[in-house]
Amino acid sequence: SILEMEVEQIKKGKYDHYMQKEIHEQPDSLTTTMRGRLIRGGESKMKSVVLGGLKDHLRTIRRSRRIVFIGCGTSYNAALAARPIVEELSGVPVTMELASDLVDRQGPIYREDTAVFVSQSGETADTLQALEYAKSHGALCVGITNTVGSAIARGTHCGVHINAGCEIGVASTKAYTSQIAVMTMLALALGDDSISSRIRREAIIDDFFDLPSKVREVLKLDIEMKELANLLMEEQSLLIFGRGYNYATALEGALKVKEVALMHSEGILAGEMKHGPLALVDETLPIIVVATCDATFSKQQSVIQQLKARKGRLIVMCTKGDAPSLCSSGACRFIEVPHVEDCLQPIINIVPLQLLAYHLTVLRGYNVDQPRNLAKSVTTQ
Ligand code: G6P
Repeated sequence: SILEMEVEQIKKGKYDHYMQKEIHEQPDSLTTTMRGRLIRGGESKMKSVVLGGLKDHLRTIRRSRRIVFIGCGTSYNAALAARPIVEELSGVPVTMELASDLVDRQGPIYREDTAVFVSQSGETADTLQALEYAKSHGALCVGITNTVGSAIARGTHCGVHINAGCEIGVASTKAYTSQIAVMTMLALALGDDSISSRIRREAIIDDFFDLPSKVREVLKLDIEMKELANLLMEEQSLLIFGRGYNYATALEGALKVKEVALMHSEGILAGEMKHGPLALVDETLPIIVVATCDATFSKQQSVIQQLKARKGRLIVMCTKGDAPSLCSSGACRFIEVPHVEDCLQPIINIVPLQLLAYHLTVLRGYNVDQPRNLAKSVTTQ
């Protein structure tokens, strides 16, 4: 009805679609996610993290033999983005499970494991089934959800709410960045007892406070991403290469492009380039390479050289100011993003790719908020 349509428009505010609104909301959703959890200053000048729902379990998690991250879709990708910092600061090995695959394999889960269930809705059937499975094997089960009172929030032993606010667009955007933020805070909390990592942890906490303004800055790429979408809208396929912290960025960027823009897209671990993907490279296939500044930068520099040598059509995502050191010949297009601590960089880097997927969808004339065949939460198997 007309009334319903008007209510919808009021909820979208100045935006045309929920996905667009949710992308632009990220400076605020991240602020809400961080609120009351990151502490800086005060008498002791100590910087620390407080996660109320986990504080009684941190010792158990630190002592567990393994942390297993479990989720589906975007939630799995968020966990993948946080994996390196959780391993670094906790010293506990982290393994990754797509919920359906863990259940299909009946993979081994032990009493000494901590199983972390990541789900925006808290209702995804596969993730819930994996939770029942892990519980029956005696693991400590931790929930990371956006929905208070959801099945996963209720069924886990403890957890953290990401507090990103209600997400309506089927393609997850602000929940992804808030999930990464929460799992990075989890890493900080797990590392809280270590003196040797203190400087590292404080640098991360400092950059957390700058994150909303940096996300606001990267959102200014909107027009540039619309131009890029214009250039790419007729393509059949788009590859995205990433590694390290930004392997997840490649997978999640490609997931956005396929789920809403209905364009084939594949996120590829750059370290695997020579083991197959290189065969696809020619003058026509567009390739995004994430090469922001971190410990893997020089490896990405050489990936870019090799793709250029095969006349690849490159779009390079790099840290502001790094473009000349990556490609001086004018053969590449650049997406320049602000710099933050390496483990927080995936939160910045996904934003231009969300914008790109959004604009591709609008230009190609598809339904942004309800892509064909997909549901916001998949509660059946
Ligand atoms: C569906 C949604 C995705 C989401 C996935 C996992 O496929 O379309 O956006 O990432 O489910 O959902 P969850 O609520 O468990 O995070």
